[in-house]
This record gives sequence, structure tokens and C-alpha cells, in this order.
Amino acid sequence: MCGIVGVVGKPARDVLLNGLKNLEYRGYDSAGIYLNDLQGHQYLTKAVGRIKNLEAKLTPDEQGVVGIAHTRWATHGKPTVANAHPQYSSDNRFYLVHNGVIENYATLKNKYLSDVEFHSDTDTEVIVQLVDKFAREDNLPAFAAFKKVLNLVEGSYAFLLVDNTEPDHIFIAKNKSPMMLGVGDGFNIIASDAISVLDQTRTFIDLHDGDVADVTKDKIVIEDLQGNAVDRPAKELDIDPNASSKGTYEFFMLKEIDEQPAVMRRLAQDYFDGNNVKVDPAIVQAAADSDRIYILAAGTSYHAGLVGKNLLEKYTGIPVEVGLASEFGYHFPRLSKKPFFIFLTQSGETADSRVVLTQVNDRQLPSLTITNVEGSTLSREATYTMLLKAGPEIAVASTKAYTAQVAVQAILAKAVGEKLGLQVARDFDLKHQLGLAAEGMQQLVDGKEKIDELAKKYLATTRNAFYIGRGVDYAVALEGALKLKEVSYIQTEGFAAAELKHGTIALIEKGTPVVALINDPATADLTRGNIREVQSRGANVIVFAAKEFAQPGDDVVLPQIEYYLSPLVTVVPAQLLAYYASKNKGLDVDKPRNLAKSVTVE
Ligand code: M6R
Repeated sequence: MCGIVGVVGKPARDVLLNGLKNLEYRGYDSAGIYLNDLQGHQYLTKAVGRIKNLEAKLTPDEQGVVGIAHTRWATHGKPTVANAHPQYSSDNRFYLVHNGVIENYATLKNKYLSDVEFHSDTDTEVIVQLVDKFAREDNLPAFAAFKKVLNLVEGSYAFLLVDNTEPDHIFIAKNKSPMMLGVGDGFNIIASDAISVLDQTRTFIDLHDGDVADVTKDKIVIEDLQGNAVDRPAKELDIDPNASSKGTYEFFMLKEIDEQPAVMRRLAQDYFDGNNVKVDPAIVQAAADSDRIYILAAGTSYHAGLVGKNLLEKYTGIPVEVGLASEFGYHFPRLSKKPFFIFLTQSGETADSRVVLTQVNDRQLPSLTITNVEGSTLSREATYTMLLKAGPEIAVASTKAYTAQVAVQAILAKAVGEKLGLQVARDFDLKHQLGLAAEGMQQLVDGKEKIDELAKKYLATTRNAFYIGRGVDYAVALEGALKLKEVSYIQTEGFAAAELKHGTIALIEKGTPVVALINDPATADLTRGNIREVQSRGANVIVFAAKEFAQPGDDVVLPQIEYYLSPLVTVVPAQLLAYYASKNKGLDVDKPRNLAKSVTVE
């Protein structure tokens, strides 16, 4: 959840600050930077809040050709300067940045460091103090002391360590937290994700869990924790660096909402050969061979999975269960005889999902990760991968990844259904439907001023709100509610429309905003009844209705598309409503409080 970046071999300060700014979406409650000029000077600066606060604190003389930096999402200890990273040993010899959680930090602290005075509440400080202790007491060089500590550590980490007695090295280690090693000409760079340092290099080494490395400006030595040499090939990354820039947009979230029609067109292009769906035959066979599909995910991806269940069941006939990864991982249900697992994850790094995947792999069961990030941890560790092809998603609130997840699940459903010989799958003109989705999304984003007006009228001062819907609209109601609450801080609940009257309707009072979604042919009239129930109790109802069910006075008429794919269009005004509710309140839409883009801790 934190962002880390380190560089050795070139003026480091601006490289690190730029990298941190690009990584800020991973965590942004405090930040810090360590610089060493290899002339006997080292500098440590830390600040609470955003990177700009850190930048403001740096003095011109703080420069270096080696440095490590960090932007934090607090896990152990409040967001204070003392708890910000880099953490350091009491003798100011070692400096460490860390992304992850050390589970046995208290045990290590009690066992080895009872005589040390700590200056922070972090688990990270335990590690840096312990490296220092082993280096001093066992007379070990830094790399050896570091490896000795790593062999005692339980938990997740991406570490960058600098030893002021040999400051032209950065020692790094990875376990369960993302880290890429960028190879430069006369320098090397390390970062939580490649995108953050694409302006420096396009050549990256993908580190694996258990890897440790000694990195200098022109040499990289990678080993395992036992000290055996490890060979990791470097590869060129083919990413458009402009894809992660805001361009003329004020916020990434709106840019990413606007990009959704293009993502639909790309998927229709890349996953089809003419009108024939094109998915890796091994994936199709593995899913078709299963007697039950389990979809695991978190947050928005979980909501996309709820939509995917409907699509997969309809077009493949295979029963589907959708689970919250954080629950599933520790309460595995009784599995069917031939399960097939799908991990939906924009980032491919979500720790809760990875816990399940690890168990799936232990049981040697087949799995597919559907992700936006090629080479991400869940992609590497699953049997198969399908890419979302949505381009980098930077805003913390997920938008285009959600619609891409729905579309890719539909693509998979059609491919598997056809493999199973199902007429319903053959008749599913998905390529045409994705075209309709793209057109419909375009129409909706072109009408965004209307949504801005709705946000101003109904959401400017309210403290709470509801989304209601039935069938797949219920799944979108959950997503609409999550979007609104995470970026605008309006307490919003998504409800199956008929469930309100079983208790929650007690919360409806004069002026409570209720967004009602109507796409489900089986229940459109019933949802109208539920709308009347809340209107009678004073609610301000905003209606998003499919063209065929729309009535005069509805706020948004949703473009025509097949019912099971309707979330592709229904979600767009919900995303826009959240965006404008947040922007109109003057909030930082892309970086809502307390959140981070990829949740790499359990
Ligand atoms: O990277 P993932 O898709 O695995 O992330 C899962 C959730 O953390 C994520 O969808 C989160 O809910 C979003 N911030 C919501 O907008």
C-alpha cells in the first residue's frame, strides 16, 4: 500500500521526488527521502501529508547520488514524522524503507532488541535496528546482516536498505509486496511499480518472493535467502508513459471514466477474430472442464464478480460462487469436485486475494487471474491470465477496470459456453454488444453536465444516501454506493430494492437521496413500487432507467444493451455522480482520505 523508490548512480533527489509523486496513489499520509552524496554527507527528510510537504522541507543542499524514498499508508503507528519512512538505526548507520507488514515484529523486538530505544511505532524500525545489531555484534557486512534478519522475518515486505558505511549499495528484498528493479545506463532504480519510473528506464527485472539483491550503479547481484545466486532476466516494458498522465483533466478519475468507451472497443478488437471470440484455448478448456467456478475479489472487483456470476451462469451453465477474498481465505467453503478459480483484481497485488490463490495453488487447483497489470503477483502465480487492457488506472476509485472486468468475464463466458456447445453462447453477439456499450458509454459521458447538476441538487449537503436495484442492478447498486462513499464521504448503502422495507427504510426521511436503477425486465415494475415507497417517506429519488423501462421524469435514460451487460452503462452515471459529488465539495477526488490504490496488506 506504500510506495517505494530508490536509485543508485545518478543525481537522486528529483528522480526520487518524481517517482514518489507517481506512486502517491499507493499511499499518501506521509513521505520521506534519504540521500547520500558519497562524499560523507547523508540527509534524511520526512513530512506528514502529501509529497509537496516533503518537497517544501527539502533544502537545496540536500542532494545525493544514492537515495531511497517512501510514501506511506499507515499500518503500524499514526501518520507522524517519527513513523514516516525511511526508518533508521539508532546509530544513524542504516536507513530502510518498507512496504508491507512484519507479522512477528513484536517477537523480534522482545527477543533481540530489549536494550534498544525506539523512536517510532513502526514494525519497520524493528528490522532496521536488528540489521544494525547483527552487523555490529556479529561483525557482518550489511548484506549478510540483512539476510540474517530476513531469515527471521515473517510477513510481507519490499525493503530498500542503505548502509552509510558502504553507501554506494542499495540492498533490497521482496516477499509478497510488489517491487521492480529498473536497469539504467550507469545507474539502477528500484520502485513499487514500473510506471512510476518509466521516465528513467524501460528495462526491468521482475523480482520474485524470496529474492534479495545487492544493487550498485553498474551491478546487480540477486540471491535467495540462503545466499544461492538467482538469475532473473531483464525485459523491456511496452507501456505508453502518456497513459499515466492526466493530460488536460483536473483529475484522473474523470479521465478514466471518459476512457471507458475506448476500453470496450479495445477489448472487442483484441479478444475477437472477426466475429469469433478469441481466448487462450487452455483457459477455455480448464473452465469448461470445471463443475463450479469460484470468483474471488475485493471491493469494486468483487462487485464486478457479482455481475460476472450472472454472465457466466447464463452463457456457460456452470454454477458460479462469488466470494470476498478476505473472508474466503480463512473460511474456505466445501469445494465442488472440479473447481475453477477466477481472481478478479485490477492491480494484481491485492493481499486478500493472494491469500486465497496461495491456498488454491497448494491444492494444485486451476486458476485464472483477470487483471489490468501484466506480470503482477496474482498474474504470475495463477495458472492463467487474461488482461483487462484498460491502461493504467491511477485514481484510487476504480472505474474503467470495473467495466473492463465485466466485459472480460462476458468474453470468457461466451468462449466457454461455445466450447460446451451451448446455443445460447453461440447466439450471444458479444462483439456487437461491446460496440453498443461503447456507444452508450460515450453518450453518457457526453451528458455529464446533467449528472453534475444532480450531484449539486441532491448530494451537496446530504450525510447519507442509498442506491437500490434488483438483479444485476443490485450488483451495480453496491458499486454505485462504494464509489459515492469512497470519494465524497457521503455514507451510502447499496440495497436490493425490495429489502429496504425489511428494516432500512426506517432511515429514509425528507430529502434522503435514493438512486434507483431499473434494467431488470423481471422486476422493473416492482422497483417502481419500491421507488414510490421511499418517495412517500420524503426521499429525493434519482432514477437511472433502461430505455425500454424509462418513464417521463426519469433522470438518466440508459442506452439499450442486453440486460446482463447493462452494468457497463448503468455504472457510468453512478461513477460520474460520485465524481461530481466529491469535486463539488472541493475534495481530492483521486486520493480520498484513508485509502490507497492497491491494498497489499491483509
Ligand atoms: O486491485 P484490486 O482490484 O484487487 O483492488 C480491489 C479493491 O481494493 C479496489 O477495487 C477498491 O475497492 C477500489 N478502490 C474501489 O474503487
